[in-house]
Amino acid sequence: MSRGLADPVFVHDQSLTRKVGRDSEAGDIVDQQLHLLGTQLVTHLNVLLKNARSHGGSNTALDRPVESIGTLVHTLGVDQPVSLRVQEGFVYLGDRHLRMTTHDAPIFASFVDALRSVGAGGLVLRPDAAADLRRFADIFVSILPGDEALERIRKRLAEAKIETVTLEAPRSVLKQDMPGEATARGPSRGLLTPVQTAAAALAKLQGRARGAYARAGTALNEVNARAAGRGTISFRQAKRAIQNIVDILLKDPSTVLGLTTLRSHDVYTQNHSVNVAVLSMALGNRVGYTKAELADVGLAALFHDLGKCAVPLAVLNKPGEFDAQDWEIMRTHPSEGVLKLFDSRGLTRVPARMAAASFEHHLNYDNQSGYPVLSRDWPQTLSSRVITIADCYDAMTSARVYRREPLPPPAVLRFMLGKAGTSFDPALLKHFVTCVGIIPIGTLVLLDTGELAVVVRPATERLLADRPVVRIIADASGTPLAPIDRDLRDTDADGVYARTIVRLVDNTEYRIDMARYVAAPVR
Ligand SMILES: [Fe+2]
Ligand SMILES: [Fe+2]
Repeated sequence: MSRGLADPVFVHDQSLTRKVGRDSEAGDIVDQQLHLLGTQLVTHLNVLLKNARSHGGSNTALDRPVESIGTLVHTLGVDQPVSLRVQEGFVYLGDRHLRMTTHDAPIFASFVDALRSVGAGGLVLRPDAAADLRRFADIFVSILPGDEALERIRKRLAEAKIETVTLEAPRSVLKQDMPGEATARGPSRGLLTPVQTAAAALAKLQGRARGAYARAGTALNEVNARAAGRGTISFRQAKRAIQNIVDILLKDPSTVLGLTTLRSHDVYTQNHSVNVAVLSMALGNRVGYTKAELADVGLAALFHDLGKCAVPLAVLNKPGEFDAQDWEIMRTHPSEGVLKLFDSRGLTRVPARMAAASFEHHLNYDNQSGYPVLSRDWPQTLSSRVITIADCYDAMTSARVYRREPLPPPAVLRFMLGKAGTSFDPALLKHFVTCVGIIPIGTLVLLDTGELAVVVRPATERLLADRPVVRIIADASGTPLAPIDRDLRDTDADGVYARTIVRLVDNTEYRIDMARYVAAPVR
């Protein structure tokens, strides 16, 4: 089967990455290579645009990026075009999410901002793009950001007869492709529109995510029961569930974050632990954890409160505030967790990271506050710092026995930012805010149309951080509606935003079960 030059490589069936099984060793090597080359491509494109902006397209400062981009496009695409696109603040090489490290983060952010500023969602580079890159960069930086910037650039590119570099419009969230999921099966194949197919794929992915979330909860319960009764603990089931969540996370971080609203108040500890695992993995993904590291931090987070099985239920479920004695008992749970882990499998078989997470998750970043109180300095490991952030965020946004009303997520983020550098690692906390969005999933909002809506996908683009995807659940008169999703970045024909958040609504006013809306399939 041949394909035209217009089809960007890596989104097509025949690409190398599809031929090599993703879980095979060869697949891993291809993964690493693509990731490395993709990151280099983003880096050089960023330099190209920056240098064109400060020196003009013909300056020698552009020699190196032009040459490098040319080589990278050849290496990545051979004789096919290569596409880079941005979706929800993430950069994709074809259908592959390019995970960035903390080191790459500013470069990625600058690249994403450059595309967003002209309203582009991505760009496609043909193998012979190098010859046109200077003129492309000149045109790109000469157009001022604003309405119709994309159209104006495209027009100028057409006038200059530049066809080797093209800019793509952003894809709407509902129209996004789900790699490996997007094929409609059965008799209806071919009858579905691309939007319906993508929506069906997304619904399927959300279903798988809910299944994995529930299995992680069940596995946790079993381990807890065995730990309480001194039985032999097996982490096999939990590992499998966490692995499933990692797989889904790498495809669609928002679906996984949406799981954290699946909480029911009577099984606080179970939901809390699975949520902490989900949030820790989402943060780990943001800061460039590998797949194996994500599974590790997820498993450690799932069992961070294992020691609570040694705390009497009368204390654990006590309504109202804890007294000094209750706190004394509660504060034993990090060390109790380590003992449980050691007890059950023998020291040599306890994954060190699980024990570290249990022991360190209340120690705090500054080593001055928190518990257990130690007679020596004990800096938290990176994964424990990740888990501490996820733990606090989930605890404060959930309804607990002794504090029935959860705080709205943005208020929790504000509170936590006030403790950056003391309780929390400031750099990680910044990444966490970008990860969950300044208006996170599950936040109830009032729109300027008078409609009431729930955030279902955080806005992760810095420039449009207050424009998440929302699910409208009631009209201006307060009458419940069949929920519909709207991307708050959408504009009308005149370029005016169709809807804007006026204020966040405290859910204690409405007592809406967010899980009913957020965890349900997107319509
Ligand atoms: Fe804890
Ligand atoms: Fe916890």
